[in-house]
Amino acid sequence: MEMTETYKLYIETYGCQMNLNDTEIVSGIMREHGWETTDNIDNADAVLLNTCSVRENAESRIFKRLTHFSQKFKKRKNKLIVGVIGCMAERFNERLIDIQDIVSIVVGPDEYRKLPILLEHAMGGVKGVAVELSKVETYEDIIPLRTDGVNAWLSIMRGCNNFCSYCVVPYTRGRERSRSHTSIVEEVASLAAKGFKEITLLGQNVNSYHDKELNKDFADLISDCAIAVPQVRIRYTTSHPRDMSDRLIEVMASHDNICKHIHLPVQSGSDRVLKMMNRGYNREHYLGRISKIRELMPNIAITTDIIAGFPGETLEDHQLTLSLLQEVKYSGAFMFKYSPRENTKAFDMPDDIPEEEKLRRLNEIIDLQNKIAKEINHHEKGNIHRVLVECPSKRNPEDWMGRSDTNKVVIFPNPDAKFSQGDYVNVKIKRSSSATLFGEIVE
Ligand code: 5AD
Ligand code: SF4
Repeated sequence: MEMTETYKLYIETYGCQMNLNDTEIVSGIMREHGWETTDNIDNADAVLLNTCSVRENAESRIFKRLTHFSQKFKKRKNKLIVGVIGCMAERFNERLIDIQDIVSIVVGPDEYRKLPILLEHAMGGVKGVAVELSKVETYEDIIPLRTDGVNAWLSIMRGCNNFCSYCVVPYTRGRERSRSHTSIVEEVASLAAKGFKEITLLGQNVNSYHDKELNKDFADLISDCAIAVPQVRIRYTTSHPRDMSDRLIEVMASHDNICKHIHLPVQSGSDRVLKMMNRGYNREHYLGRISKIRELMPNIAITTDIIAGFPGETLEDHQLTLSLLQEVKYSGAFMFKYSPRENTKAFDMPDDIPEEEKLRRLNEIIDLQNKIAKEINHHEKGNIHRVLVECPSKRNPEDWMGRSDTNKVVIFPNPDAKFSQGDYVNVKIKRSSSATLFGEIVE
């Protein structure tokens, strides 16, 4: 019998949840070709960085990491293969190899099936690049290698057709395409059978999900998933405010196991800026969606993304973002300083807000949002949340952490680990911070 050697692969993942799921897909592909994944970089035969290009600082982190690898592995006897995959691979192409000699493979988000052969060539000393984008690749048939036992990510679509003027994603991840409705519902059912308790459906803009053959949209999909696995929580991200339909809101409200949390990135509170961003909605439309959501689900948690200092943003525009935060009262937000990205429409607009002023606006947004989140959490005192138990808390192993239906992190004592990962407990909230709720299990 022929003996085949098992190689070890170490993957570091940066950026969004799509990337986390892509890492699982890559691990799944590599496993089929005799590669094992390892958590220990020192005994790996190959290292892959799954990268993000959404902001410049995400990219500079990767370049620092590659420089670190060049120094660290200079003296290593066995040759270590270093590869860059994901959005930066797409954006930089073979230039990555020129910039960082240690890089021997560069593979974009739609070419992961080529990784086994490229790695094999790289072990023979031949560098390789694969960055073709595809109109059809969804990795539907690949079984992702999932390591978390409770939460599973599931990409239902890839790419984006929105071309928000600041965003590089349509260029690095290509055109939008949806996986088939049937294959997704089947995978959801099989994840439930394997014991997963929470499944998050992922896409850059899930509201434009569409299965052409069955003519099913995202509301149909999430509804069928919820029905298929009544004992499993279903989450999703990300929604686009322009496409958030009444029907989707109604479907969310009518299924107990669809989590009551919506991430609805607004980006700015000013119509003028929203227009320059090519977002396709104005403040009034956005607030209309929020009212509809809250009308049907009064206790829902809403989170958002904000960009501070977009080209041409005036102080008045900035004030409108602050007033929108006051009006909506988000339970959480990801807040960013505008970062110009090559090839995007906004790249051609003068990046005219000085760095310190961008930072000042960003900090003002962060301070206000933290205050609001703290207030919201303060009102949680006395409430009882159904919490899915995840793991011991990092601060104190007597305490455990889990998440509420509304996606809040909840910390509670769990002496002798009476409840374990994947159990549901009811927790009565005693106190809170801006990001976390603390409570006790009630029977
Ligand atoms: N600069 C700053 N933030 C950005 N985002 C996307 N592109 C940029 C950029 N060029 C933010 C948006 C998006 C989130 C994923 O990242 O808020 O919703
Ligand atoms: Fe980027 Fe806009 Fe697509 Fe989101 S919806 S990935 S911000 S282009």
